Amino acid sequence: MKASDLLRTATEAEIEAALAEAAAANPGKWITHSINAGIACREIAAKCPGLDSERAYSLGALHDIGRYVGIVRGRHQIEGYRYCMAKGWLGNAKVCLTHSQVLKDINRSLDYWDISKTDFDFFLEYIESVVYDDYDYLVQLADCLATSEGFCIIEKRMIDVARRYGVDQDSVARWERVFELKDYFDQKAGCNIYTLLPDIEKTTLN
Ligand SMILES: [Fe+2]
Repeated sequence: MKASDLLRTATEAEIEAALAEAAAANPGKWITHSINAGIACREIAAKCPGLDSERAYSLGALHDIGRYVGIVRGRHQIEGYRYCMAKGWLGNAKVCLTHSQVLKDINRSLDYWDISKTDFDFFLEYIESVVYDDYDYLVQLADCLATSEGFCIIEKRMIDVARRYGVDQDSVARWERVFELKDYFDQKAGCNIYTLLPDIEKTTLN
């Protein structure tokens, strides 16, 4: 395998086809959330020296592609990884596994997970050994800025997720990490990244 194969990401046409197929299999707000996460990644990356905005779009737009299988929780990460690996999109496959693990604080209780023990063991080992890069960080941040309607400030998205899924003892630490990521990209972009996201004030106040 060439080093470039490890970086391969889905093209715009491939993303469109994958999301259309996924929307037919499991329609829902997650499709527009995904596209908006891609747009957030692209807009932020465009302002950051050294980041490729089209690659960023691809990684953001397909981070939740594993949801094509139906209404699942943690399983969407593994399913997305498998889906992208099968397509040869190794760059996207990595982000399918890393996007939710901002602290690498994986819940060890199998009851929490809707995946098999074998898949859990693979996931745990993968996350513990993987080295995150700026694209992993960017998708982790964008996931907290993109709703199905558009873009909002982190606080709004966090409360929205907490109201839907609840919180646990590590929630505040994860929120802190996402605010750190925002500071990191604010610095890289040389501006407040909120200002790069179209109509953020409208969606935030909605
Ligand atoms: Fe997401």
